[in-house]
Amino acid sequence: MIFTQEYQFYLPQIDEHLDQDEEFIILEDGDRVEKILFHEYHKIYEVPGLYEKLFYRRLRCQSPTVIADMLAENMARNGQDMSRLRVLDLGAGNGMVGEELKNRNAEMLVGVDVIPEAKMAALRDRSDVYEDYHVLDFTDLDPKDELEMRSCRFNCLVTVAALGFGDIPPEAFLTAFNIVENGSWIAFNIRDKFLTKDDESGFRDVLQNLTEHHFDLKDSKKYVHRYNLHGEPLTYKAFVGVKLNNVEE
Ligand SMILES: C[S@@+](CC[C@H](N)C(=O)[O-])C[C@H]1O[C@@H](n2cnc3c(N)ncnc32)[C@H](O)[C@@H]1O
Repeated sequence: MIFTQEYQFYLPQIDEHLDQDEEFIILEDGDRVEKILFHEYHKIYEVPGLYEKLFYRRLRCQSPTVIADMLAENMARNGQDMSRLRVLDLGAGNGMVGEELKNRNAEMLVGVDVIPEAKMAALRDRSDVYEDYHVLDFTDLDPKDELEMRSCRFNCLVTVAALGFGDIPPEAFLTAFNIVENGSWIAFNIRDKFLTKDDESGFRDVLQNLTEHHFDLKDSKKYVHRYNLHGEPLTYKAFVGVKLNNVEE
């Protein structure tokens, strides 16, 4: 669909508390008025600049810079800079995280996302960030695609704002974890509620197993990922560390 540069969007005035994937905007472009859920990324990416205006300017998302800074700081503490980083950016979207790492001199970035609109938006809006960008489903990765991914010899995996909420499930994250080489830097974040005892997403157990056996955790912190429609902070936890070995599948 084609949108004009004159489109506008509104945050609804609602009393009820919606979960992160239930929040929505009203988009107006000429005669067209559309309700778009925050997690309908395919619709958001189609509108140039909407993702940035909504999540970064209005709702003050800061995860790409928080994760990129944490990664840079921890690498520096270990006597490394980013100029040799060969990054697999899983759930790359329109390239906000890729851009942060590129600006910090990462050698090579490959984006992966499950929807074609993400690739289209990344190539449209940040054409110089990724060496390659693949539309792939890591929950069911074709052996040919897996081989191609391995041939990139990634030494870094980043996944930002893409775990949980019907986005990337634990098994897809573990597939990516196993594709990058031993000794790779791993940087990701996740909503803190997925790490609580009662949560059923499976992330808590997966992360516990990772940090006990497969991942040398260097740093982690809680921070405000963004604000919700009511102006309340959404807290995430960020993790940075080094892969030790593969997780058995
Ligand atoms: C909130 S966006 C984050 C994009 C980018 N990482 C950022 O921080 O701006 C989440 C992205 O994860 C992608 N995604 C959801 N499920 C996925 C999956 N199974 N595999 C790869 N990407 C997925 C979505 O299409 C979306 O582009």
